Amino acid sequence: MKAVVVYYSLDGNTELIADMVSKKVGADKIKLQPEKEIAKEGFKKFFWGGKSVIFKEKPALLNKDLNLDSYDTVIIGTPIWAATFTPAILSFVSLVSLKGKKVHLYACSSGGDAGKCFTKLKELLKDSTILSTVSFKDPIKEEKQKVEQQVDKLCSAIKE
Ligand SMILES: Cc1cc2nc3c(=O)[nH]c(=O)nc-3n(C[C@H](O)[C@H](O)[C@H](O)COP(=O)(O)O)c2cc1C
Repeated sequence: MKAVVVYYSLDGNTELIADMVSKKVGADKIKLQPEKEIAKEGFKKFFWGGKSVIFKEKPALLNKDLNLDSYDTVIIGTPIWAATFTPAILSFVSLVSLKGKKVHLYACSSGGDAGKCFTKLKELLKDSTILSTVSFKDPIKEEKQKVEQQVDKLCSAIKE
């Protein structure tokens, strides 16, 4: 199995899980980086972030090499913005074909339900096999043991 975690993270939560998962299953990591990043602080972040989700924006990415041909397993990680996945993930799934790959999804939110995010991503990734979905609540702030349990759940599904 050759696996890669492809993720976007503004405040580090989704990145924390990407680090933990990649270490545990020996996966590579690709952090999606929009050419223009939104403000990290204050109200602006929610305004511009929310707007970009609602208008289904596909921001240009700085990542030059998104060739995933050599991977059979792709783990996609996203924060929840406006109840769904982030614009950088929409750019990614529009640019790259994951046809025939084994895909696992995880999402980080501040408590909101990730169900809509997973349903929408599954619709966009119809040609892939979605093997598991795991949601985290702001893992940086969450009890370490709880986060580790959820990471283990995700990693067991990846290794199956
Ligand atoms: C623009 C924006 C919109 C958000 N919308 C939601 C939401 O609808 N529901 C929710 O539970 N959390 C929401 N959040 C909180 C993030 O999903 C949560 O803090 C997540 O862990 C952040 O991941 P990151 O640290 O990898 O960026 C939002 C955050 C931002 C910046």
